[in-house]
Amino acid sequence: MTEREKVVLAYSGGLDTSICIKWLIDEHDLDVIAVIGEVGQEHEGLEAIRQKALRTGAIEAYVVDMREEFVNEYLTDAIRANALYENKYPLLSALSRPVISKHLVEIAHQHGAKYIAHGCTGKGNDQVRFETSVWLLDPSLQIIAPVREWPFKTAEHGVEVPVTNAKPYSIDDNLWGRAIECGVLEDPMNEPPEDIYTMTDSPENAPDKAEYVDIEFEAGVPCGLNGEKLSFLDVIYKLNEIAGRNGYGRLDMIENRLVGVKSRECYEQPAALALITAHKALEDMCLEREVLHYKLGIEQKWAECVYYGQWFAPLKAALDAFIASTQDGVTGLVRCKFYKGTCTVVGRKSDYSLYSYELATYDKEDQFNHESSAGFIELFALSAKTWAKNRAKNA
Ligand code: ARG
Repeated sequence: MTEREKVVLAYSGGLDTSICIKWLIDEHDLDVIAVIGEVGQEHEGLEAIRQKALRTGAIEAYVVDMREEFVNEYLTDAIRANALYENKYPLLSALSRPVISKHLVEIAHQHGAKYIAHGCTGKGNDQVRFETSVWLLDPSLQIIAPVREWPFKTAEHGVEVPVTNAKPYSIDDNLWGRAIECGVLEDPMNEPPEDIYTMTDSPENAPDKAEYVDIEFEAGVPCGLNGEKLSFLDVIYKLNEIAGRNGYGRLDMIENRLVGVKSRECYEQPAALALITAHKALEDMCLEREVLHYKLGIEQKWAECVYYGQWFAPLKAALDAFIASTQDGVTGLVRCKFYKGTCTVVGRKSDYSLYSYELATYDKEDQFNHESSAGFIELFALSAKTWAKNRAKNA
């Protein structure tokens, strides 16, 4: 008997990827190696998920803890880029796909597998992200997307089917937040039911007393909370709790998918949104004006690029080089006030602050040269004023 070819599957333990295992065996005649990525998602035991993959027919199943790498390589870039797709969504799924893909490719190489498989549908962004990431890392690998290939007939394949009828949502989550879509959310006028959220309390039920948090950054990366030095990973875990219990971090938006569809998406990203808010506030104080303004455009392109699955593409690296060159002075502390669904920056300080009291004040300490303003404005306005004169003449 000749050895079967191998396929490495991104496995979540959910219904779709479980059926994928059967499908890859029955329809493609492949040996399946399942990879379960720990990226801080909610789960009831990853070992149980691993066992399920083996029971379903995988010849090997790995649980890979990707959290440190996810935070230190992927979220570090994201926070420095203030990454918000369409100025709103902090990109949780788009950030986890490349790190998972990297491990899929590594495991494929270890096992001499020619194929990589995922359980994404043919309509979403995640298929693009997995496949583009894999091909950028190894263009010789071949992709199989069973969910896209055939409509599933679960009964025929005899897999354990989790009971999901009560909550028919599609959920993706990791330590950067949760994405919830489908079901009643598909009508954009339906208010999201309270039970879709698990990381955040409702603002109505949040405490009546404000909670203050000091967030520290070093070179653009979070490194402490309330005076305690912490890893970025621990900052995220703690801040998810603090912001979440104060009802902060929910989004309800219509979003443009790469495949051309507008979809209604709900997110809860308490730590992510709070950290981006705080990071921006520190940049407001520490970045030179022209750098700050230029960076806003770079940030938007960065978020779009990552949303489109281009994590390992050259544009992303080029944008990162710009962003990295701006971050060495983004070191300091930002005080945030959480209160019933809001996060407000109420204080900031930094050794790299470009805020000058002597230049800003209207008091007697004022050192700003008021006299030079007249000449400055005369020349600054000259071009537009010349235009206005011409218009007046021709009117
Ligand atoms: N729309 C978001 C994105 O493209 C979230 C996707 C979440 N995936 C899911 N299976 N629910 O990044």
